[in-house]
Amino acid sequence: MKLQWIAQAEQETQRFGRLLAEQLRSGDVVALIGDLGTGKTALTKAVAAGLGVSEMITSPTFTILCEYHSGRLPLYHFDVYRTGDPDELFEIGFEEYLFGDGVCIVEWADLVPDLMPSNCIFVRIAYGQEESQRKYELMLPQDRAWSFDELQPQEK
Ligand SMILES: Nc1ncnc2c1ncn2[C@@H]1O[C@H](COP(=O)(O)OP(=O)(O)OP(=O)(O)O)[C@@H](O)[C@H]1O
Ligand SMILES: [Mg+2]
Repeated sequence: MKLQWIAQAEQETQRFGRLLAEQLRSGDVVALIGDLGTGKTALTKAVAAGLGVSEMITSPTFTILCEYHSGRLPLYHFDVYRTGDPDELFEIGFEEYLFGDGVCIVEWADLVPDLMPSNCIFVRIAYGQEESQRKYELMLPQDRAWSFDELQPQEK
């Protein structure tokens, strides 16, 4: 199922992230795909807030992984931009996290397509026409029925 959401401002991105967080469950992997600065980290912060994470969320650009344990589910936030190298990811236990009990969010998941599980939730982010507009396309695994009142299926 494909859903779309347009945020006119960062506040609406925060709302989208919180709605997304409500639907997440143990073992979910969220693949974030979008150009530099589209707001992958911003969306992750919103999801983290929605999960009730109380720690400060920083970007894992230099560390690949930041993890948070204060929310409803453990949150593992990856940014694979600086390492296209699967070996480096294996070394930090990428697979164990992906198939573990927490929620994984992976920025730049499109750089490691072969490593992403088949049942992951894809979120594509694109710039809109206005500076603070962002377009989200959410792709859910087939077996996943989600109840988003505000996110309408994409009409095509
Ligand atoms: N509607 C919006 N949603 C999210 N971010 C927005 C929005 N409007 C403006 N912004 C700004 O866009 C920027 C997004 O930066 P962020 O670091 O989250 O992007 P990113 O996709 O993680 O980048 P990178 O590829 O470098 O990791 C922030 O400066 C944020 O304030
Ligand atoms: Mg980022």
